[in-house]
Amino acid sequence: MRNQFFNNGKKMDVGVPMTDAIWDSYLPKKFQLLSSFQWTPIPVIERTWKYLSLEKEITSIMDLGSGVGKFCIHLSILSNHSINIWGVEDREDLVTLSESLKELWNTSEVTFKNVNFLDQFPYGHSHYYCFNPLYETMKGSHSIDSSKIKSANQFLMDLEVLKKKLYQLSSGTKLITYHGFGGSFLSGFRIVLKEEISGGEFLIWEKE
Ligand SMILES: C[S@@+](CC[C@H](N)C(=O)[O-])C[C@H]1O[C@@H](n2cnc3c(N)ncnc32)[C@H](O)[C@@H]1O
Repeated sequence: MRNQFFNNGKKMDVGVPMTDAIWDSYLPKKFQLLSSFQWTPIPVIERTWKYLSLEKEITSIMDLGSGVGKFCIHLSILSNHSINIWGVEDREDLVTLSESLKELWNTSEVTFKNVNFLDQFPYGHSHYYCFNPLYETMKGSHSIDSSKIKSANQFLMDLEVLKKKLYQLSSGTKLITYHGFGGSFLSGFRIVLKEEISGGEFLIWEKE
C-alpha cells in the first residue's frame, strides 16, 4: 500500500525542522498542489500544540474534516504521542491515504474514521479543530474533487446543522478554527484567542 503513495526509498531526516514543503512531499502530486488551499500549514499546527500544551485538561482532540490527515499526524508528532487525536473525513480515499501516512509517520495513536460529521457528530472530545470544512460547497476552484455540489443554499443549510451540533457540546469544550467554521458568530461560545497565522484567522472558542 505504501509504495502506491510514496516515493520508494525516500528518507525522513530526524532533527530537520518540519516545513510544509517537506510534509507535503509525501503526498501524491494532486494533493501536494492543493495543500495551500486545503491542508493546515505547519505553523498553524505548531501554534495549536503550543496552546494545547498549556491546557490543564485534554481528553482528546477531534479534527472535523481531517483531509489527508496532516493536522492530526503532525500534531501527534509535536505532542510526542501524548494526546488522543481523532479525525473524521467523509471522503473515503482521503481516509485511506491518511491511514497510509499515519503508518509512514509512526503515529499509531491517531484514529481516522470515514464519517460525515453532519450526520454522525463525534461528541465526547474536550477539543475540536476545523479548517473551514463546509466552505468547499461555495468555492469554484481548488476543489479536492467534483463529488460535492456547489451551492450557496447547501452551504447555509450545512452551516445551520453544524452550529446546532456544536451548540450541544458540553461547557468548557474548546473549538479551534483556522479560516473559521463557516460563520462569524457561534451561539453559546465565547472567543478566548484570536491571531493571524499563515494568512488565516486562528481562533479558539470556548463553550459557555
Ligand atoms: C479544508 S480541508 C481541511 C483538512 C484538514 N482538517 C487539514 O486541516 O489539513 C476540509 C476537509 O473537510 C472534509 N469535509 C467537508 N465536509 C465534511 C463532512 N460533512 N464530514 C466529514 N468531512 C468533511 C473535506 O473532505 C476536506 O477534506
